[in-house]
Formats: sequence, structure tokens, C-alpha cells
Amino acid sequence: MCGIVGYVGEGEKKEILLSGLRELEYRGYDSAGIALMDQAGIHHFKAAGKLSYLEAKTAEFTSASFGIGIGHTRWATHGKPNEINAHPHLGKYSFVVHNGIIENYQELKGRLQKKGVSFLSQTDTEVIVHLFEYYNEIHTDPFCAFEKTIGDLQGAYAILLITKASPNHIFFAKEGSPLILGTDAQNHVYIGSSDAALIGKAHTVTYLEDGQYGRVYKGALEIFVQGKQILPPMVPLQRNTLYAQKEGYRFFMEKEIYEQSSVLSNAMLGRLREKDIFFEEITPSFLSHISHITFCACGTSYHAALSAAYLFERLAQVSTSVEIASEFRYKKPYIQEGTLFIVISQSGETADTLEALKRAKRSTAKTLAICNVDNSSIVRTADTTLLTRAGIEKGVASTKAFATQMLVLWMLALEMGKETMTSTEYAENIRALRKIPTATQVSTETHERIQRLSKRYLHGHGFFFIGRDIFYPLALEGALKLKEISYLHAEGYPSGEMKHGPIALVDSELFTICLMPKTTLYEKNRSNVEELSARDATICAITPEPFSLADDLIYTKHTEHPMCEFFEMMVVLQLLSLEIAIRLGNDVDMPRNLAKSVTVE
Ligand code: F6R
Repeated sequence: MCGIVGYVGEGEKKEILLSGLRELEYRGYDSAGIALMDQAGIHHFKAAGKLSYLEAKTAEFTSASFGIGIGHTRWATHGKPNEINAHPHLGKYSFVVHNGIIENYQELKGRLQKKGVSFLSQTDTEVIVHLFEYYNEIHTDPFCAFEKTIGDLQGAYAILLITKASPNHIFFAKEGSPLILGTDAQNHVYIGSSDAALIGKAHTVTYLEDGQYGRVYKGALEIFVQGKQILPPMVPLQRNTLYAQKEGYRFFMEKEIYEQSSVLSNAMLGRLREKDIFFEEITPSFLSHISHITFCACGTSYHAALSAAYLFERLAQVSTSVEIASEFRYKKPYIQEGTLFIVISQSGETADTLEALKRAKRSTAKTLAICNVDNSSIVRTADTTLLTRAGIEKGVASTKAFATQMLVLWMLALEMGKETMTSTEYAENIRALRKIPTATQVSTETHERIQRLSKRYLHGHGFFFIGRDIFYPLALEGALKLKEISYLHAEGYPSGEMKHGPIALVDSELFTICLMPKTTLYEKNRSNVEELSARDATICAITPEPFSLADDLIYTKHTEHPMCEFFEMMVVLQLLSLEIAIRLGNDVDMPRNLAKSVTVE
């Protein structure tokens, strides 16, 4: 959700900023902009739409002398996604970029307007730069004016500000939105809202904590908390960017679907032993005296949580509840003694999930993060983390992150259930785990079949995705994938729930994607699908069994374990959404209105 970059040094500033923004663009792509300051003064460029428009606009511009620069790629929260609302926002002699939301911007704006300040944009961000210049006129010390400014802000923010009043510095502040500072061997300073923007540039980095602010200049990072300077802990930054390239696939999402088999193997490395599970991150005492598990997440990660709840109740015989983070954080939750609070997040930066986690930390609950991004805010906040090891996920529609979340959760359910399961059941699960990398390999035949079938699903008045048991959350996930990238209306339901209302919508123009695994409630599901077929629904069955009532069939393999069917069907659903969206001509990796990493609530 929005991306921020900054740079201090004598490199080609425009290129460095744009290349950082390129890495962050999938997080928000409504508009982009940069502002640079060197001996020649301040230059700034903004463009509505994707980053390529800004690249075209700046094609002739060069900036290879010592200087500073900031950049931003935007996912609009306040004001339309146009050029005026694009960051950086300009005062008289300063520029600001910002991620997050300034909640009291109306009040601050009113105060400034009364003093004669006029505003150009509809954003909350613009208030920051005017407030800064207002305080700078009073205090004449720019850094002091910056401190006063952030002292007035309420909400969540990561801010970078440059000003002619302090020409060699970038001022920064972090509260609730991630911000990372890094340096290289030549003492250049790099700033990013995610380490993806710094990879290949900075050698060591520091991940700022909430309440930290300061200034950077050549070779120096000055970080403060409540007026006191602190020494930042610097850690080495991983330098491999190869895994974030498309490598011949049409979209990152497609590449990430194909990668699932190998990232799932990775997620098992060292954790799946010959006969059991071992998590070095978890001590035996951490899992002792747990009487309840609360899962909490958003979106796709919430679907992983829903499926996990079935697994934990069944395998570990522990009671569970599943919470949508945005609801949980405001409901004054009752967290009982003995609760293990598990948050699930690809990015580790989802604002609602992070706040829910902080709420849980204030209780007696033990907290565990299942997360894909090391050093993210959620990882740093939770008591313990199991990393999902999916690698950078760039497609906005989550695929491999979901797959690895499911795998890690399943393994954790086994670890917690090793005392309650029979040895046969446990061994069957261990055997099934080993089969998952194969179950998720994309077969050319299946992909081609789905590609051909997809042309029949481009119209109609909507989709139902249905399933039972763990396949019900998978149906929810299938529906979410489809709506995100195809913009077609899709809903997921438990198969048995159709007759309680939704069946009223059924006709031949309602496409029903039926998950009919052989291992799990096959006959029950089949009856539900027959009821739909009797009402002329168009049925696309995903199943290992022949099914004469289906209009379309996508065959999966016969297997003995529900989780093998689960993972194989997951791949089918992902490919189906992908191919429908491609046929509709949509930008699969950057679907409209969405952004990766939702750092605002
Ligand atoms: C859907 C998708 C979103 C995220 C949700 C939570 O494809 O990616 O629904 O799952 O925004 O994000 P994380 O997992 O980063 O907390």
C-alpha cells in the first residue's frame, strides 16, 4: 500500500529512486512521483497511473551529482488517483512523501487555512509539508520544525521530507507504517518502505520502530526517540534479487503459481523429519498449556486461518476461533487464559493484523506469527514466528504465500496433535506432507485444459464456489482470487448452505465451481451439486471422479489424503482465475483498486 524510497549520495539519483519504486510498484500504482535536490536546486516530477508514465516523463532528466531524493508510488486513500494528488507534495520550498493516513488532517488543514495557507490537493499528506513550513518560519531550525510537525500528527505514517532549508538532509519519521534505512560501502544512504527497494543497493539496514524519527545525510543516520538520539542496530541485507523476476512467465502471478511446488519443499526443509515435525523456532514449553487457539488475519490469510481451524480441531483436538483482524481489533475481545494467538500474514505489515496482534500481546495469550517476511512489523511484534519461506510474492493476488501458510499451519497442527492422534493417522499425515510438492506441480495438460475452458466463463451474472470442510475456505479463496483479478462477481459458500438462500440465484448464467474431493464428504457434496444442477446452474466440477451432471470437469488425481486434494485443487482454482482474467485483458499483477500490503486500516 504505497511505496516510499529515498536516497542520499552522488549516484544517478533519478535512476536509483525509479529502480526502488519499480520494486515497490505492486504495492500501489495509482500514481508516482519523485523530488530531487542538488546544487542545481529542486526538481520534481509526478505522473498519474503506473510508474511507466513517470519513467517516460523523466526520460531526458539526469541527476548524477551529489544530492538527495525521495520518491513515492501511491495507492489512493484521500483524493482521486490523479497527478495533483500524487506525492511528493510541495510546500513553498519543501517536499514530502507519506505512507499511511493522517487521521487529524482536517483539523490541521483548517488551522493552517486560517493562517492563509492554501492547499492544492485533496490528500491528507499535503498538510504535513505546510505544517512543517509553518513551524520552520517560527523556529528557523528545520529539524526542530520537523519534530514539532510530527508531534502534531495522529494516525499512521512513514514520512520522508526534504527542504531547501536543510539542503543535504532527508528528514524521516515512522509511526505504524514500515520504514527501513540502509547504507552501502560508499556511505550512500538508501531508504525504503520495504527492503525490496533496498536489495542490491544497501549492505546494512535498520528497521525503524514506531516513534522513531530523525535525519539522514551523507553516510550518517541520526535516529531519535522522544528527543533522545539512539544508536540503530544495523543488520546485513540479503542481496539476491533474482527471485523477483518474471523469468518468461506472462505475469508474476503465473510464475508464483508454478513456483509453489518448490517453495513448499523449502517451507518443509529441516521441519519435516523422517517420522515427525520439528520447528526449531518453537520450544516445547511454548506449546504447553494451550487450551484455545485464536487465528486472526485478513483476506487470503484469513482463508488459511479458516482451513487451519478445521485441522487444529481435528488433529490436535484443541478448540479454535477465527477472527477477521479488522473486526477483532475493535470488538473489545475476550481472550481467555491459555490462548495461543496466531496471526497469519504474507506481508507482515497488514495494519489490522498488526493491531490485533498488539491487542493480544496485552493479554496473557502467547502470540505466534505465520509470516512470509522476516523483520516485518508483525514478525518483530510476535513472541515467536514461523516463516513461510515463499520468497517475495509480487502478484497482488496471493498464491504461493497462501500455499505455504497452509503447509506450515498443517505441520503445526501435527506438532500440536502428536499426543492426540493415533500413530497411524500421524504417519499418514507425514506421508501426505511429502507428496505436496508433487501435488502442486502444474501439469501442462491441466493448465491447457483450464486455458481452453476459461473462455466459457467470461460472462454470466456471477460465480458460486462451493465446498465442504477444509474445501469450504478453499472455495472462499477461489472466489476471492477470481473477483480480485477478473472483476467478476464471485462468492464462496459451504455446499450445504446453498439451500438456505443462495440457491435462489441459480440459473444457467450462474457459474458454480464445485470442489468435490473424493476423500472428504464426496456423497454429501454430490447431492448438493445435484440440487444445483436440477435448477439448471452451469456446473464446473473439480474432482477426481467422473460426474455426468457437470457441464465442465477439471480432473484432479485420486489420492488418499484430503490435504493432497486440497493443494491440487488450490492450484486449479488459481489457474482458473488467472486464465479468465487474462482472457478479459486485465493486468493480473496489478488489478484495479488493489495493492499489495495493506498498511492502512
Ligand atoms: C488476496 C490478498 C489479500 C491479503 C490480505 C492480507 O489475494 O492478497 O486478501 O491476503 O490483504 O494480507 P497479508 O497476508 O499480507 O496480511
